[in-house]
Order: sequence, then C-alpha cells, then structure tokens
Amino acid sequence: MGEYNNKPNSEIDMENGEILYDDGKHKFIWLGWGRLETGLIQTNQYLIIDGNKGVLLDPGGIHIFPKVVANVTKYIDLDDIDVIFFSHQDPDVSSGIPMWLSVTNANVYISDLWVRFLPHFGITDFSRIKGIPDGGQRLGDLEVIPAHFMHSPGNHIVFDSKSKILFNADIGAAVFNEGGEYLFVDKDNFNAHTALMEGFHKRYIASSNACRYYVNKVRSLSPKMIAPQHGGVFRDEAVEMFLNWLGNLKCGTDIIDELSR
Ligand SMILES: [Fe+2]
Ligand SMILES: [Fe+2]
Repeated sequence: MGEYNNKPNSEIDMENGEILYDDGKHKFIWLGWGRLETGLIQTNQYLIIDGNKGVLLDPGGIHIFPKVVANVTKYIDLDDIDVIFFSHQDPDVSSGIPMWLSVTNANVYISDLWVRFLPHFGITDFSRIKGIPDGGQRLGDLEVIPAHFMHSPGNHIVFDSKSKILFNADIGAAVFNEGGEYLFVDKDNFNAHTALMEGFHKRYIASSNACRYYVNKVRSLSPKMIAPQHGGVFRDEAVEMFLNWLGNLKCGTDIIDELSR
C-alpha cells in the first residue's frame, strides 16, 4: 500500500507541484501551476511514473509547455515518457502536441473521433498518433474509460489501477477566482467548491444522462482521488460528495431553454 498526499492546502507547493501517490515504484504526480497568465484557464497536468517509464496526462497547450517540461524533468527524462494521453480535442489539452512529439519519443493517444483534427495543430508525422476506440482500452496499468459527452463527444478518462487515482479530464473542473486557488477538495471545503464548478458543468456537460452513466462507472472503481484537468483534486470523502453532486445536476440539454434565453 502506497502513501497518499494528505497535506493541508496551506502546505501545497503550487509552483513545483506535488506527488499525490507514491509506493516506491509507482508515482502519480500533479505538476503544479507555476505563475498563471491572466486570461488563460488554469490547467492541471499530471505525470504517472511506473519504474522508470512515464505517462503524461493532458500536458496542455503552448503557453504552459516550458513550465510543464521543467517540472516533468525533475522526475523523469523526457526520453522515458512512452505515452501521452489526451482526454479530448480541446486546445488547452492538446495544442502543445507538435512540441511534445519533438521532445519525446512517446506515442500520443486520443479518441478515434479526434485523430483527423490533430494535424491542424501543425503535425506532419501521424505515425505516433494512436486512436482510442469509443469503448476505451488498456494501456499497461491504466484503464482508459469512455466518458463521452462529458463534455466532448469523444472523451476518455484514465483510472490508474496501482494508485487508484482517476484522471478525470474536464469532469469536476472548477474555475478559481484569481489568487483563490487551492489544490485539494476535502469534505470541509466541498460545499464552497461547488460554486466554482457549477457554471462550467451546467453549460459544457451535455446532459444528466451522460452524468449518470459516468457516475455509475466511477462508483464501481472506488477511486481514492479524482484529479480533473482544471480546478481542485477530490480526495477521501469528497470523492463520493462529488459523484453525488454530479449525479443530481441538471445540465446541458436538460436546461437548454434556460441556457438559450
Ligand atoms: Fe475541454
Ligand atoms: Fe479543459
């Protein structure tokens, strides 16, 4: 059994990031925020290391590339990154792809739906782009799980079977007020945190039907932490609080009249 990060938010290293789980051979790392540029949505990047091999999850766009490279190389050589996973096609997830292909030898995995769109970010060699089928797939210890329409129509999340941490793409995203950022969502700050998630989920997530499908699947995995691409990481009791909140949310096509006014 490995160690989970149980630091209070006041002790988090925002600049360099934090190890969320470590059992000596296997690590799940949050790569930190560094200094944010105003006007950009804040993104979380994650690195999983198993032995001496690495997997990058949604490493992000051009603006944050130098910071992500700097933090990744504190833990692993870029040559040892085998897999880059993109949850979906958005530019905050994947627009850095030409640079990541040039500094690593990794294969890039993204939903089959988006393979044809990636070349528009400026790639000429498609041989390292691998399409993920709608039903997901296994990548070593990682279970790539469909979470379509949450928000993208071709969207996958990743369950790391060793750390039991779920990388959640945009699901659970929060938008912080400037200067009000924190890493962990616990039972004590969960209720206040929902105010930072609600606007995003109501407008970007397709429907409560898609939410229900996701919630049922994720409950069956019993993740220890849920790590979204924006906002805070849910841990301990806040994991179930989040699933309960999302399972009861009306969003997208449920409220299309309200949204279109
Ligand atoms: Fe997105
Ligand atoms: Fe995003």
